[in-house]
Amino acid sequence: MKRWNILVVQLIKHSFEIPPLEELALESNGKPFFTSTSHGLQLENQKTLWEIYIRTGLPLPEGPILDAGAGDGILFAIAPHMVFSRQDIGRRTIVGVDIDKNKVWKARQVANTVSENYRQKTGLSLVYQVQDPQDLAEMDTKNLIFYGQKANMPKFAMVWSNSMFHWIKEPRQKYAALEKFYSVMKEGGVLCISMSSGGTARDFRAAYINVFKGLGFYDIHANEQGFRVQDFEDDPIGSRPLDEIVNMIESNGFQVVSSVTLQESIAYNDPREYSKAVETYGQDAFLRSVPHYGKERKAHIWKEIEKEFIRIIGKGKWKEGQPWEYSQFNNYIVAVRKKSKMPPKKISHYDLTSILNEQFIALGYNKILIGDDYEIMVHLEGNEKEIEKESTVVDVQGILREVFTYAAKYRAQNGQIPCIVKYEKLDRMCLELEISVKTNKDLPITGIIKKNFLDLLNEQGVVIEHKRIDSEITSVYKFKIPL
Ligand SMILES: C[S@@+](CC[C@H](N)C(=O)[O-])C[C@H]1O[C@@H](n2cnc3c(N)ncnc32)[C@H](O)[C@@H]1O
Repeated sequence: MKRWNILVVQLIKHSFEIPPLEELALESNGKPFFTSTSHGLQLENQKTLWEIYIRTGLPLPEGPILDAGAGDGILFAIAPHMVFSRQDIGRRTIVGVDIDKNKVWKARQVANTVSENYRQKTGLSLVYQVQDPQDLAEMDTKNLIFYGQKANMPKFAMVWSNSMFHWIKEPRQKYAALEKFYSVMKEGGVLCISMSSGGTARDFRAAYINVFKGLGFYDIHANEQGFRVQDFEDDPIGSRPLDEIVNMIESNGFQVVSSVTLQESIAYNDPREYSKAVETYGQDAFLRSVPHYGKERKAHIWKEIEKEFIRIIGKGKWKEGQPWEYSQFNNYIVAVRKKSKMPPKKISHYDLTSILNEQFIALGYNKILIGDDYEIMVHLEGNEKEIEKESTVVDVQGILREVFTYAAKYRAQNGQIPCIVKYEKLDRMCLELEISVKTNKDLPITGIIKKNFLDLLNEQGVVIEHKRIDSEITSVYKFKIPL
């Protein structure tokens, strides 16, 4: 029997294909702009964010796309296979904005190469532009600036921001960036953000702290160089939990339509490859507290951090010569820009950080979230901490699939049905899923779950209870699942 560990989250399945990074965009000397080592994780984040956007079913108004924190311009290379593979989206202008001048330079090369290749292959042109370096939290919302020349800021149909938002460390700056996004977007425009929710570069951070401690920066409140201890203790990465980010986005004139935290992993042949990837994107943030150090001294510190990192992971499962798997948690959020920033009518939010919610997405429920406008309301309530590291042989996904298939069918006949799924660890041996479905007729469990699946659940020791709460015509199905 298949053992299904409910807590090991798989990467979300993508409904489109992108050629290998190494073949995607080549420099004139044939070298790839991107490799799976340097940009593999970002590519996964990009694809997942796109998949989550597609599944919301949200239309995109006319207008260009702003790639906020465009980095090396990977979106330009994948857009023909991902964004523009959908007819309803069409080939739109994509404008990249990034704070880092080296990234701007590389993104411009990628933009030129990709659009030229596209033109040669298809005869069609792509319009890609990269603004001069710009901090998104301080963005000029009236003008775009290309090579020092101002151009009118268009109204964007989509602001796309992959793996950038955690690099804006200060919450106040995060708010400022969201305000800018709001003011450069059209009403009904779509905001897609992926960002770290925690765990990013965990072992690497531990190494960084040890190295900086070794340098004596932790010992006194203001050391002889005048640096404050907290400058070094702070996490260089501004990861935030999902609900906090959702609140931030909603208080800036957006309605969040989908939000989820997923665990993502990538295997490196050697952990030093990962350290190289962190160097590409994170060195500035990690070495923010020593801006006065020269290039050589920075390179030396980086080597020290890498050595310490290897030492730390060597104390765990990893052995020299073996591949190493890195994993982190990412928030994915899709929101719609509202007409005004007036306080919204109260919409409740359900923290979709839970593993169970990943199952909802896996089941193809586009609109997993809330709100009067959406067809199925799913409330998810539970304490994910409590069920962390638990596993079960029971196909929980199967249970959810059956119940939701039923609910969706029922909705088609009767309008909206809220589903409430509560999960709770009753004791060390048992997980309880309680699923309430509002209907106007009572159905026994056999009415919603196929007989052969029920038999299987019985065989697996799942205890099922069903009751009807008459006044509300709510059917409650309880599944006690052995762990
Ligand atoms: C991990 S990279 C992601 C790049 C790209 N979106 C991708 O998916 O490959 C993060 C990028 O955010 C940029 N960035 C960080 N803070 C920024 C800010 N305040 N304004 C604009 N860009 C910023 C960095 O320079 C970096 O290129």
